[in-house]
Amino acid sequence: MNTTYEHDVLVIGSGAAGMTLALNLPAHLRIALLSKAVPTEASTYYAQGGVAAVLDATDSLGSHVSDTLVAGAGLCHEDSVTFTVEHGPEAVNWLVQQGVRFTLDESDHLHLTREGGHSHRRIIHADDATGRAISTGLLDRVRAAANIDLLENRVAVDLITTHKLGQAGDNRVLGAYVLDKDSGEVDVFRARFVALATGGASRAYLYTSNPDIATGDGIAMAWRAGCRVANMEFNQFHPTCLYHPQAGTFLITEAMRGEGALLRLPDGTRFMPSFDERAELAPRDIVARAIDYEMKRLGIRCVYLDISHQPADFIKAHFPNIHQKCLELGIDITTDPIPVVPAAHFTCGGVMVNGHSETDVQNLYAIGETSFTGLHGANRMASNSLLECVVYAMAAARDISTRFDSTPPPSACPAWDASQVRDPDEDVVILHNWDELRRFMWDYVGIVRTTKRLERALHRVQLLQDEIEEYYSHYRVSANLLELRNLVMVSELIIRCALMRKESRGLHYTLDYPELDSVIQDSVLVPEQSTWRVPSLSTRDRAIASAG
Ligand code: FAD
Ligand code: SIN
Repeated sequence: MNTTYEHDVLVIGSGAAGMTLALNLPAHLRIALLSKAVPTEASTYYAQGGVAAVLDATDSLGSHVSDTLVAGAGLCHEDSVTFTVEHGPEAVNWLVQQGVRFTLDESDHLHLTREGGHSHRRIIHADDATGRAISTGLLDRVRAAANIDLLENRVAVDLITTHKLGQAGDNRVLGAYVLDKDSGEVDVFRARFVALATGGASRAYLYTSNPDIATGDGIAMAWRAGCRVANMEFNQFHPTCLYHPQAGTFLITEAMRGEGALLRLPDGTRFMPSFDERAELAPRDIVARAIDYEMKRLGIRCVYLDISHQPADFIKAHFPNIHQKCLELGIDITTDPIPVVPAAHFTCGGVMVNGHSETDVQNLYAIGETSFTGLHGANRMASNSLLECVVYAMAAARDISTRFDSTPPPSACPAWDASQVRDPDEDVVILHNWDELRRFMWDYVGIVRTTKRLERALHRVQLLQDEIEEYYSHYRVSANLLELRNLVMVSELIIRCALMRKESRGLHYTLDYPELDSVIQDSVLVPEQSTWRVPSLSTRDRAIASAG
């Protein structure tokens, strides 16, 4: 049985961004907070390094702003950087008030560590598992809040908007179709305001630090609903993920380089000083590219991160989780170097929003890694992401609170129509396409690109789009199919943006245009202006529109 749920605000995603928004909305509003797996299965939970904010008297807001601008390689929006940095202390204080337990120094002040690109110690952290502290701390609050319905195993399929229902006037969001993974039914969630807080899209790549949920669902849903997206070519590769057959996806935090760890080739030679004067503390794009270069030059499978010159007690105190995880795999980081490789880590582009986090569709917000606020430019600086999640979610909460009373409730939404579809008979197609996508994205749209490789990738992604859209139109939906559909669409957006950029800047490095262009501009994709084929209305949406 399909159900229609009614809420004041629907928040899709329960990572740092989604939970911060839900907790900052007035307590009299009824909120649905969705996660497509258990709520801790989010990038937030796995964050290690910390949250960047200016809390030390020797540091300054201007310095945090200028470091962010430098890392962003000329493409950050200065207003967004200033806004984020100025709200940093407030964001950290709010997290502390929610009960998030950060590491303290001997004087009981927040301990500050350092990461690449930061000219001061300004990373607030909880040992080397900051995300776990934030995620569990906020979840406790969410569970205690009587006005928040936390619903897990719910996969938002698509947004319902006035334009999709064929209504004239401004395009306004009315709610979303949501698959209940336990019952297999697709329900309607109606709400006055909807927020996309679904995280990034790094699962588009074969090797990634991200959990399974990072399939770009919010970006794809927003695009299909008529929102502009920008700067998708800037997918950040984290330089140091553990390279071990049994490790799965496991990050070795940049804070380790902040505390003195050195990158070495298999023979023990350091190589970063010959790439950048900041050596191991250069911004991530530079370090990841240097590692990629050395791996290709020497034909080696990994490089090594070595912190064994620091006292064992210091290492165990600062990096207890990494120490433990590596020990389980037979690597003692107090004596041995750690094998590491770069892996896809963060989506710098996303759904375009204004200063209150609202998108091009009325009453639809995008926050956290799903959004494009202009903060990160061509390369995100370490630990600015969790900060962005909290600062912009708080901005969205303020805006929704102000506008709530003057916003009419949404009109009726038609039920999901599954009358024309049958049960899937060949799920292997989904698995196969999933593997193919992630492999060619890694090979052709990775750390070093060429126009030819991008065009090859575009051709493949279009073939996959056709196959998947056909499957989506004829078969009952599953979580796997929905994720693949979104990931393929977002991959096309990544490739389109990469092809638009005729220069090398920040994370986008192409052998065909190795220099910076004198014109500095974002790569903006506009759904209704796209002459290419990504449809903003799928076959199934059209059926819904005609029914509505
Ligand atoms: P997420 O935390 O990823 O949450 C997304 C939520 O959306 C999940 O609840 C998911 O279930 C839900 N969702 C997704 N799709 C759907 C759908 N279709 N329907 C319903 N729900 C959906 N950043 C820092 O600033 N500092 C760090 O130290 C740091 N370390 C990191 C370490 C790792 C290993 C990783 C992977 C990232 C790290 N980052 C760090 C980046 C940062 O953690 C993320 O950018 C940030 O947590 C994103 O938060 P979010 O709320 O936007 O999304
Ligand atoms: C890390 O701990 O290295 C990740 C920090 C980040 O992605 O901001």
